[in-house]
Amino acid sequence: MNKLRIGIIGTGGMAHWHARQYVETGLCEIVATCDVDRVRAQSFAKLYNAERIYDDYRRMIEDGGLDAVSIVTSNDVHYAVAIAALSAGLHVMCEKPLAMCRQEAQAMCDAAHSAGVIHAVNFTHRNTPCFTLARKFIAAGYISQPYHVQADYLQDWLLAAERSAATNPLVQPLASRHIWRMDKRVAGSGQLGDLGAHVLDLLYGFAGDYATVSALLPTYLQLHGSDNLPQEQITDDVCALLLQFANGATGQVTTSRIASGMGDTITVKLYGHEGALLLDDRNPMELQACLGKAALERRCWATYNAHEREREPNPVTLFVQGMATGQQPPFSFDDGLRVQRVLDAAIESNRTGQRVTLENPKSKIQNPKSKIVWRSLQSLQWAEIRSSWTNTIVLCQTSTRRPSKPAGTWPT
Ligand SMILES: NC(=O)c1ccc[n+]([C@@H]2O[C@H](COP(=O)([O-])OP(=O)(O)OC[C@H]3O[C@@H](n4cnc5c(N)ncnc54)[C@H](O)[C@@H]3O)[C@@H](O)[C@H]2O)c1
Repeated sequence: MNKLRIGIIGTGGMAHWHARQYVETGLCEIVATCDVDRVRAQSFAKLYNAERIYDDYRRMIEDGGLDAVSIVTSNDVHYAVAIAALSAGLHVMCEKPLAMCRQEAQAMCDAAHSAGVIHAVNFTHRNTPCFTLARKFIAAGYISQPYHVQADYLQDWLLAAERSAATNPLVQPLASRHIWRMDKRVAGSGQLGDLGAHVLDLLYGFAGDYATVSALLPTYLQLHGSDNLPQEQITDDVCALLLQFANGATGQVTTSRIASGMGDTITVKLYGHEGALLLDDRNPMELQACLGKAALERRCWATYNAHEREREPNPVTLFVQGMATGQQPPFSFDDGLRVQRVLDAAIESNRTGQRVTLENPKSKIQNPKSKIVWRSLQSLQWAEIRSSWTNTIVLCQTSTRRPSKPAGTWPT
């Protein structure tokens, strides 16, 4: 079988991750690279054996010979590149956030559907094994009605860079090196779109679609002395969201690039009528849970280990599988649009100081009732359970019974 011919547009940091995933599938070859910084495109091409090098994505698409493109540019370019690629009938993998606003995202989604090609957004954290295992627990009914969820995605790179620059004059402040991330005209938003987009995608998988949003998006101007940007164009350093889900649950989300001591960490706490889950991607293969009548009565938490079966493919691999099979993978432009609606609502809420109601939430997770919980808890033979009281690992009894939904956990 001929390999799928991939063009990569934008050859900065994240493009290397895309290229490695394509190569690892064994089904693709990187044939063209494009960057407005031609030297960067050239060294990228050399690294991944791409023959064609461009500084204009339109020329790259016009020249043909591609099956698909990955869009890994700054956010302001996603829309134009995607529309050009889709018009040429190419499959498109796009970075998050999908677009600069809901209107762009809607047009991209419409174009992808009418082109009839495979489309995907790179929500890289959705399939971290502990999050996949959590969706299985939720789908099997262990949580029942979710009441509230709290999620943080915390980084400290802006502070860390300022500290290094202060102590070493040879170090350039990171703010000036990551200028596009600081500029609303190029990034759209700061920690809202950068990290918030991931969390909003993730929580959709746990609690369904969003009904209302309130947001605070502060910028700490004292950290941006080296940005050389008009103050009103500097993006948010912190994003604080108060959410209501269509199923009545509430959510609190904090994302930050100035969370001292935090490198790159997502934590989620989910509390429902029949149980609770604590997730921390620093331990991606396990989750903490309080599940089942006895545990709830004693407030006893246990550690459940994710297994290899929870290690689902990343979005690029699923995109490639989608092209090979003609099946649209679950990481679609529709998911990007759903998140974009919430991002826009958050920006509006921050601007007006009002809570914003989202139109027509798309889906409501149906949570199984409690009687299913008590029965299915007995079938947790596929997990190892470490008691938080005794700190011993209990290997599960031999039984062939499995949870009712062992795979395909993304809600439709
Ligand atoms: N999914 C994730 O976990 C994740 C992680 C990091 C970044 N991202 C996303 O990836 C995208 C790129 O981020 P990055 O960290 O690689 O940024 P980066 O600055 O390292 O790279 C962006 C590249 O795009 C190029 N570019 C800009 N305009 C262009 C144009 N018109 N045509 C061709 N090239 C152009 C720039 O010159 C630069 O080389 C962003 O959308 C970002 O949000 C996603």
